Amino acid sequence: MDPDASLSLARILPRLEARFAEADAVAWATFRTRLHTHFGTLFPLLRHLYGGQYDFFYHLEATLEMAATLWLARSPALQALDAAREADPGWFQAQGMLGAVAYADLFATTLDGVRAKIPYFQELGVTYLHLMPPFLAPAGNNDGGYAVSSYRETNPALGTMADLTALASALRAAGISLALDFVFNHTSDEHAWAQAALAGDPQYQAYYRMFPDRSMPDAYERSLREIFPDQRPGNFTWRPDAQRWVWTTFNSFQWDLNYANPAVFTRMAEELLFLANQGVEVLRLDAVAFIWKQMGTTCENLPEAHLLIQAFNALVRIAAPTLLFKSEAIVHPDEVIRYIRPDECQLSYNPLLMALLWNTLATRDVRLLAASMRDRFPIDPRCAWVNYVRVHDDIGWTFDDAVAGQLGINGYDHRRFLNQFYTGRYPGSFARGVPFQENPRTGDARISGTGASLAGLEAALPAEDEQAVELAIRRIVLIHGIILTMGGIPLLYLGDEIGTLNSYSYRNDPAKAGDSRWIHRRATDWAAMARRSDPATVEGRIYGALQRLIAIRQAHAVFAGHDTTILDSGSAQVFAYTRQGAGPPVLALANFSEVPQTVAANELRLYGLSYRFRDLVSGESLRLVADLPLDSYRFRWLVAD
Ligand code: GLC
Ligand code: GLC
Repeated sequence: MDPDASLSLARILPRLEARFAEADAVAWATFRTRLHTHFGTLFPLLRHLYGGQYDFFYHLEATLEMAATLWLARSPALQALDAAREADPGWFQAQGMLGAVAYADLFATTLDGVRAKIPYFQELGVTYLHLMPPFLAPAGNNDGGYAVSSYRETNPALGTMADLTALASALRAAGISLALDFVFNHTSDEHAWAQAALAGDPQYQAYYRMFPDRSMPDAYERSLREIFPDQRPGNFTWRPDAQRWVWTTFNSFQWDLNYANPAVFTRMAEELLFLANQGVEVLRLDAVAFIWKQMGTTCENLPEAHLLIQAFNALVRIAAPTLLFKSEAIVHPDEVIRYIRPDECQLSYNPLLMALLWNTLATRDVRLLAASMRDRFPIDPRCAWVNYVRVHDDIGWTFDDAVAGQLGINGYDHRRFLNQFYTGRYPGSFARGVPFQENPRTGDARISGTGASLAGLEAALPAEDEQAVELAIRRIVLIHGIILTMGGIPLLYLGDEIGTLNSYSYRNDPAKAGDSRWIHRRATDWAAMARRSDPATVEGRIYGALQRLIAIRQAHAVFAGHDTTILDSGSAQVFAYTRQGAGPPVLALANFSEVPQTVAANELRLYGLSYRFRDLVSGESLRLVADLPLDSYRFRWLVAD
């Protein structure tokens, strides 16, 4: 600990000791030990962010007192889990890990309904369940729950906070970790703090970024981009009821918090630890790139954003060490990687892999995928990617233009092509997606649509074109096969496992019509779900294939952890990589084209396969006598016999 940190701790600790003199001695001693371990990390971060404030020590002490209070209120079961996780910090690297994500209401109506679906999660092999924000939010448009009016109350239609806590423990008993969002860049304009700010309370106006006239907003706006240009141009909203412009990066009812104010840090840390105490094991840090603002910058990915998360993380190590952070930074690949550190976000979405899987299905050319993954896949081995093909959001084409440029691809043109392709406008496209946030000024757009509709199932089904249906199913299974075997935690968007198609009914709902992401956010069709066990149905074909791949992943220790080496397969259509963890290494080959390919026997030899080997996918035993065929959209996971 640096001398300043020790001095500060020496100054604060006696007061904390006195304040918690009546606390359970063992629990208090644990807190003290952790405080000693992590204060040396926490202090310089907070000093960097807030040291210039005249009342810095007051805030520091208040933060620690709050953390101690929440630790002492933490249930014995969670305190025991904390100790277990501290002893096994790499628990989430296991090959058994499988994530799933859903809206509680769309999936099973209520939180209790979700609880009743635990047998389904177990059937699928899920060990990590991310529920979209179940919190109190404004009626009507609330950005799918991402406008939070209270972090301590649930949306009453879903149930109560007690139901949420009960769900978390029931899931844990079934071996499933609950993940929720920490929507901490903004609150809704109905949050008590926003309401107090609207009523004119200057203390709460300082929780947000509010301006009496356009001078500051205009000055900031010069270097900001627009995230939701359809909804409202710019990043500020005029509130006549407060006679103020409010910073609103997303929708006008989502007010950005002002983290330059230390009170906001302390209050939000309290909300964070409150959620941890409900049994949440993973917090998805929503819109993480936007939390710090500074004039003259893009106000994205600023160094202070990282320090803030590290400070939250250090507090979590002290007061709720079970908790992991998952970064949601859907930005340039270099910036995505900067959030991934054991002392910042242990988990991160892998938006680059996601976007490039779709890219590769469109182009039938794996080179951009392979080149990008070779550069950008490696991360700290104590952290993990969360690999996915679809989630509740749109697909943004966030690949690196420099890497594309080396392959002769112009990034701007290529994004236009991808948008054309995935909206089905490109001749011969199999995809049925729709644009999201098309910006005529910049030519930018993102894509909405379910995995199955984007992969060709929606176009193929009505035509009863069995060959097209088969190809669509193979595409769906192919990209899931990749996320199930590349290093990290695979994440399924529930509904995709049975090939759920787009739903167009959102267009009739005024609260949703302006946001095309609702096309892929639909109520689970439990009748279709019931067909999952019938291999004669489309649902059964997809479900059966995915379930088998999941079982293979979970049975082979080589799929634990991260170690993934991207190879050059010698073919522009075949994506190749090896996994080497515990157990014999696996060579994965995936044909991204409908045209059958072969991989030369010599290449296979080069990648360590000897005379006899086995394909984990088909179960075949093979001999290295000739080139290896890979049928259209087929993949093999090869292991030496
Ligand atoms: C995240 C969410 C997205 C939401 C936005 C604003 O990106 O995934 O759904 O619109 O944050 O909270
Ligand atoms: C932007 C943001 C991302 C968010 C998305 C929602 O791309 O960078 O955080 O998920 O908008 O559409």
